[in-house]
Amino acid sequence: MPQELRAVDWTGSGLALIDQTLLPHRHETVAVHDVDTLVDAIQRLVVRGAPAIGAAGAYGVALAIIEGEREGWTEAEVRAAVARVREARPTAVNLMAGVDRVMTRFGEGLDAVLEEAAAVQREDVAANRAMGVFGADWLVQRVGVERPLRILTHCNTGALATAGWGTALGVIRELHARGLVEVVYADETRPLLQGSRLTAWELVQEGIPHYVQADGAAAGTILRGEVDAAVVGADRIAANGDTANKVGTVGVALACADAGIPFLVAAPTTTVDLATKTGDEIHIELRGEAEVLEWAGVRTAPAESRGHNPAFDVTPGRLVTGLVTERGVLEVSAGELPGDRLNMGRSVSSSELR
Ligand code: MRU
Repeated sequence: MPQELRAVDWTGSGLALIDQTLLPHRHETVAVHDVDTLVDAIQRLVVRGAPAIGAAGAYGVALAIIEGEREGWTEAEVRAAVARVREARPTAVNLMAGVDRVMTRFGEGLDAVLEEAAAVQREDVAANRAMGVFGADWLVQRVGVERPLRILTHCNTGALATAGWGTALGVIRELHARGLVEVVYADETRPLLQGSRLTAWELVQEGIPHYVQADGAAAGTILRGEVDAAVVGADRIAANGDTANKVGTVGVALACADAGIPFLVAAPTTTVDLATKTGDEIHIELRGEAEVLEWAGVRTAPAESRGHNPAFDVTPGRLVTGLVTERGVLEVSAGELPGDRLNMGRSVSSSELR
């Protein structure tokens, strides 16, 4: 297996981020030593994916402290810089959660902050590994066929989108390790192509057979019976199971419901936001019009056209067959809601949850 990717790495004095805007053709790392550069990297999707920006945000607190010492900032100025990191993107709760968790150690100084940020990163990798096993077990049992599976996924949820291993792609990697993947349909994921640029690249690294398909092909592929299950990630999950994920996800979920195949959401509990009661309360990031009006920097739509560019959509919990976290699987559409099952403050096994 190739060496595990680290999208977010603390170098001792700053962050090294794999520049995900350049993949798959160029593999370069950006050195980040100040808060402005980090905010810009998060907003331009140099670093992206809910758990990865959670880890970057956690280390962002350390960056703000170091920059503050270098520039002679007051504590209020350091806190204001931290707030800018926290607000760099609005939808993925992991960013806010990562910053807030590390800020509980702010008063203890830089070493404590770094220790907490490293814990955020370490725990995410462990959560991904656990949900990979739970998710693979559940899919095998739920699909109930004795052959490798045909899995559809949307956007990028692999090592690049997390602290390591991956959420939905982590489930697929676990299935592949068991010899249980026939093929992956990777939706290209318009407008920024995280599926064709990043997921396909990670699948190549892992030697997992796959097709890249246009987002518009997904429903037809599912309804023709060419897919056994869809597995996607999440950016924020409300207490009732409504799930914000990359734009285009809800169409996949609707097709799965119509075809009667499982729609599995894979996300760590850090992506579940119990303070958000339903998907209506989730702030959906609206990105710049150029991302949909242009192709590779060249205008494709008429000059008079306006662009509508929501980065995410919300899949109603009633369409979520399973939600796998590091604690096990909740069958959300059957009434196992995160707000009832994930607020117990302890880990529960998947058999307890089913
Ligand atoms: O805009 P992005 O690329 O940061 O979008 C986030 C995502 O990668 C997806 O929505 C993903 O499915 C959830 S993060 C593992």
